[in-house]
Amino acid sequence: MTNSGWQAALGVVCVGVLASAVPAAAQSGQPSGVGGGGGGGRGGGGPFHAPEIKDTASLPGPRQPIFFRHDVHAGQDKIPCLYCHSTVTVSSEPGIPALQTCIGCHQIIGGSTPSHTAEIQKVRKAWSDRQPPQWIRIHALPGFVRFPHQRHIKVLGTGACVMCHGQVETMAQVSQVSTLRMGWCVRCHAERKVTQDCTACHY
Ligand code: HEC
Ligand code: HEC
Ligand code: HEC
Ligand code: HEC
Ligand code: HEC
Repeated sequence: MTNSGWQAALGVVCVGVLASAVPAAAQSGQPSGVGGGGGGGRGGGGPFHAPEIKDTASLPGPRQPIFFRHDVHAGQDKIPCLYCHSTVTVSSEPGIPALQTCIGCHQIIGGSTPSHTAEIQKVRKAWSDRQPPQWIRIHALPGFVRFPHQRHIKVLGTGACVMCHGQVETMAQVSQVSTLRMGWCVRCHAERKVTQDCTACHY
């Protein structure tokens, strides 16, 4: 990539996102996390600062091939969920972002701690080797169940992720917090007077 290429990426993709993330998140009603970002957090504390993590083995959820932290990206840096999971409003699958989404920032941002730098090196290597990371899927329903994300987001809003996924923006490593069992689905459908027809959810 040419110099002007990555500078454009920095300006448009990276700084643009980081700068606009706060109002975008506020508008979308995205939950603001532990520190509340932007100063709206509990006790009037400063912006959320993702902790340094020494013992990664004790984190809940599966270990991913690259230690990608939602508490840093979505929490501390306030990148909106939809920046990376952009199809959640239009498709049944929110999608996991392609490396291209990462590299716009990480060609420039190399990391401010040794562990960040080491993990970001893996992102750069994956990009130059054209070997996208094999992310381990965490939430998965059996094949006979239909779950349209977009229908839920349309009614519950773009900030509804927290209702089903918990406070992902505070998670260093994503883990499943809801059971995803039939009773869990049906309970919310009953509360919100949404269909409970077997055929709505089952093929
Ligand atoms: C900078 C890009 C980026 C942002 C911003 C981001 N994510 Fe992610 N998300 C990813 C990547 C990459 C993965 C796969 C690796 C992992 O699980 O950590 C992922 C995985 C997930 C998963 C687990 C998927 C599975 O396999 O079940 C959930 C749930 C999720 N994100 C929700 C969110 C929510 C909610 C937000 C906003 C609070 C958010 N994400 C913001 C990139 C992002
Ligand atoms: C809008 C800019 C931006 C995007 C897009 C982005 N990152 Fe980051 N990323 C950052 C910043 C800022 C940091 C913190 C760097 C530091 O100070 O160490 C970071 C840190 C990291 C780190 C170090 C550990 C951690 O997670 O904090 C990894 C690994 C990483 N990013 C991977 C990714 C991957 C994989 C993607 C794509 C799914 C991605 N990033 C997308 C800005 C971005
Ligand atoms: C009503 C509950 C609910 C809401 C709201 C919700 N999700 Fe999900 N999410 C699920 C379920 C259930 C699955 C597993 C779906 C499957 O296996 O078919 C899932 C799976 C995912 C995955 C992994 C799927 C993939 O494509 O790899 C991601 C990423 C994700 N959700 C992100 C989000 C984001 C971001 C939001 C908010 C914009 C959100 N979800 C809102 C219930 C929900
Ligand atoms: C937090 C509440 C909540 C949870 C949990 C939830 N849903 Fe929903 N569901 C809704 C709402 C709200 C709608 C939108 C109804 C509408 O379009 O008016 C919806 C719509 C649907 C639809 C479309 C129904 C139709 O009319 O065709 C399906 C299918 C569905 N949900 C499946 C599931 C499954 C499967 C689960 C569990 C894995 C689940 N839902 C969990 C609230 C929820
Ligand atoms: C709102 C969505 C939803 C509705 C409505 C729904 N189901 Fe389910 N069902 C699920 C989900 C999600 C699973 C998979 C998770 C589980 O087994 O709890 C499931 C699993 C099942 C299973 C397999 C259970 C097992 O242990 O393997 C059967 C059988 C089933 N449903 C029958 C029905 C029947 C009959 C109805 C209508 C009376 C119905 N479902 C309505 C979401 C739904």
